[in-house]
Amino acid sequence: MSGFETGSYAEVYRRSIDQPEEFWMEAARAVDWTVTPTRTADAEPDGTWHWFPDGRLNSCYNAVDRHVAAGRGAQIALIHDSAMTGAVQRFSYAHLLDEVARVAGMMASHGVGVGDRVLIYMPMVPEAVFAMLACARLGAVHSVVFGGFAAAELAKRIDDAAPVLVMAASCGLEPGRVVAYKPLLDEAISLATHKPRHCIVLQRPQCHAALKPGRDLDWAEQLAGAPAVGCVAVASGDPLYILYTSGTTGIPKGVVHDNGGHAVALTWSLPAIYGVHPGETFWAASDIGWAVGHSYIVYGPLFCGCTTVMYEGKPVGTPDAGAFWRVVRDHGVSVLFTAPTAIRAVKRDDPAGSHVARDGIGGLRALFLAGERADPDTLSWAEHILGVPVIDHWWQTELGWPALATCLGLGDRTIRHGSAGRPVPGNRFEVLGPDSQPVQVGEAGDIVIRLPLAPGALTTLWQRPDHFRSSYLEAHQGYYTTGDAGIIDADGYVHVMGRIDDIINVAGHRLSTGGIEQIIAAHPDVAECAVVGAADALKGMVPVGLAVLKSGVDRPDDLICREIVERVRNELGPVAAFKSVTVTQQLPKTRSGKVLRAMIRRIADGEDVTLPATIDDPKAMAAVRSALAKIGYGIAATQVQ
Ligand code: COA
Ligand code: AMP
Repeated sequence: MSGFETGSYAEVYRRSIDQPEEFWMEAARAVDWTVTPTRTADAEPDGTWHWFPDGRLNSCYNAVDRHVAAGRGAQIALIHDSAMTGAVQRFSYAHLLDEVARVAGMMASHGVGVGDRVLIYMPMVPEAVFAMLACARLGAVHSVVFGGFAAAELAKRIDDAAPVLVMAASCGLEPGRVVAYKPLLDEAISLATHKPRHCIVLQRPQCHAALKPGRDLDWAEQLAGAPAVGCVAVASGDPLYILYTSGTTGIPKGVVHDNGGHAVALTWSLPAIYGVHPGETFWAASDIGWAVGHSYIVYGPLFCGCTTVMYEGKPVGTPDAGAFWRVVRDHGVSVLFTAPTAIRAVKRDDPAGSHVARDGIGGLRALFLAGERADPDTLSWAEHILGVPVIDHWWQTELGWPALATCLGLGDRTIRHGSAGRPVPGNRFEVLGPDSQPVQVGEAGDIVIRLPLAPGALTTLWQRPDHFRSSYLEAHQGYYTTGDAGIIDADGYVHVMGRIDDIINVAGHRLSTGGIEQIIAAHPDVAECAVVGAADALKGMVPVGLAVLKSGVDRPDDLICREIVERVRNELGPVAAFKSVTVTQQLPKTRSGKVLRAMIRRIADGEDVTLPATIDDPKAMAAVRSALAKIGYGIAATQVQ
C-alpha cells in the first residue's frame, strides 16, 4: 500500500478536510485502475456527487486477480469455517481466482453482462462470495438478500431490483434446524411481478431442492465446463451492488454503492481504521446479507490482500461460548469485528471468560463493535476478558464503511466508553437543531455529515433518486441526515443516542417498526396497532406490539396474538424476532390523533412516565400499562393500575 495511512489521527484527519482532493487521489493510488482518474469528485447541482468520475476499474480484479499477479497466489484469501458442519475450507488467491472466473463464466453463459442485476439468496457458504465477486467481474450488479427474511420481503427485492438471474442455495443451517431456502424462493417468485429468467441453485448435502424445469438450474452441472472469464472494466460510478435496508415504511430502500469510491474507501479503511495490513487475517463475524458482510467479509479484506474468514455459526451454542475465540485462534485472526449483541451472548453464557482464560485468543490485537449501541458494561467486560482494545465504531448500510471510530491504524488509542469515537478522516460531523443550525457543544440534536460524503457512501437509492434526496439530503441543506440523534462533546467525540425515525436495532439488525405495524394492521381482527423497540438484555432491542381489536371481535386474545406473531414471522421473517404482542383497549394518542410511541416504549422499559399535557385520554396509559404487564414488560418500575 502507499504511505497514505501514515501520520497521526489528528494530522490525517486535518489533511482529509483541508485538502480532500489530494487526500483521496493519494488513497486512489492503492487501487488498480484500467483508466486512472484525473478528477476526484464531481458535484451535481442537486446535491449528489460522483467519485473519481473519469476512472475505470474492475472491483473483482482489485479483490482477486491483482494479488495473484503480484505473487500472492499461494496466500490464503478466504477461510470458510462452519461450526454447523464442522468443515473448514481454505482458498488461496489463485484458487479463488479460478472459482470466481468460472462462476462468472457460468453467469455470462446465461446472458449476465454489465449493469444486469443478479440476486443472491444464499447462506454463509464460499459459493456466495464467488457469486458476489463473479458479478463484480462481469460488471453486473449484485443484490444479496439475507436468509432470515420471509418470501414476501424477498419478493419486494426481486420486484425492485428486477434481476435477470437468481443465485440461490438449497438451504441455510440454523442451530437445530435446516432452513430450506428454495420453497421461500419459489413463493417469492410467485408473489413477485418480475420473473427472473433463471435460478441457479447450489444443492447443499443437508437438503435437496426440487428444481423447476426450464427456470431452475443446478449449480454443479452449470459450473462443470463453464469457461473462466476475465474482468470487464466499468466506470467508477457504475453500481457494484444494491443492498436493501429498512426504511421508515414497509418498502425497503435499495442502497446503491459504486465501484470506484467503494474500492478506494475500503482499501484505505483496513490499514487506517483497523490497523490491518496485507497478509494478515481479518474476521468480520457477520453475514454476507448485511453491509458489514459486504464490506468486511468480502471486499475490504480482499482489496487489501488480507485473509478473510467467513464463519457459519453463532457466537454461542455452536457448540459453546468459546466458538469465537476458537475461530480466532485456529485461523490466526489479527482483528475481529462483530456486533455488541454477539459479545453480550458470550458474556451471558460465559461471564467469567473461562474459554479465553483456558485457551487464549492467539494473536488477536483488537475487537471492533458496530451495528448498534455498545453498552459500557459489555465494552468493559470484553476489555477485561480479552486484554486488547475493544472499539465501538459507527456506520450505516448507506455509508458502506465506518464514519466514526477510534482509528487504530492512525495510532489513535483514545477510547471513550459511551461514544462511537471521532470522525473518520473524510467525514465532517455536526449536530443540528430543528432550525438546521449547529446546537451548543454537548447538546443533543440530529447527527449530520457535511456533503459531499466520503467515497464509498451510497450514490443513490435504486430506481428512486428522488427518494434518495428526500430521505437524506433535504432535511438539512448541505448535509446528509444520518437518522440518528446524539451529541458531540467538547473533545469532538460523537455520542449516538438513538434513531429519530421509527427504525429499531434488533441484534444489530435494522428493522422498521412501521413495517411491522403494516403487517399487524392487516390482521382482520385488528383495528389499530403500535410497535415499539423495547430494551432487551441480549439483543439490545426487541419489537413489542400492541393491538386494539375491532369492536365485536370475540375470539380469544391469546389466539389473535399467536396469529399476529405468525404473520410477522411469515411476512417479514424470523430475523424480526417478533415474539411479544398484547391486546389493549386503546392506544395513548395526542389530541391530534398521533400515537405516543415514545411513551409506550418508556412504559415497556419500566421507566417513570408522566402524562403529557397533549394526551387525548389519560385512561389509555393505564390500558397500555396493564396490557404490557401481561406479557412481562414495564412491570419492574411501573405500578399496574
Ligand atoms: N436464515 C434463516 N433464519 C435465520 C437466519 C438466516 N440466515 N439468521 C437468523 N435466523 C433466524 C434464527 O434462527 C432465529 O429464529 P428463531 O426465532 O426460530 O429462533 C431468528 O432468525 C432470530 O435470529 P438471531 O437474531 O440470530 O437470534 P438468535 O436468538 O438465534 O441468536 C445472537 C442471538 C445474539 C446469538 C445472534 O443474534 C447473533 O449472533 N448476533 C450477531 C449479530 C450480527 O452478526 N449482526 C450483523 C451486524 S455486525
Ligand atoms: P445498519 O444500516 O443496519 O448498519 O444500521 C445503521 C444504524 O445502526 C445506525 O443509523 C445507528 O442507528 C445504528 N448503529 C450502528 N452502529 C452503531 C454504534 N456503534 N452505536 C450506536 N448505534 C449504532
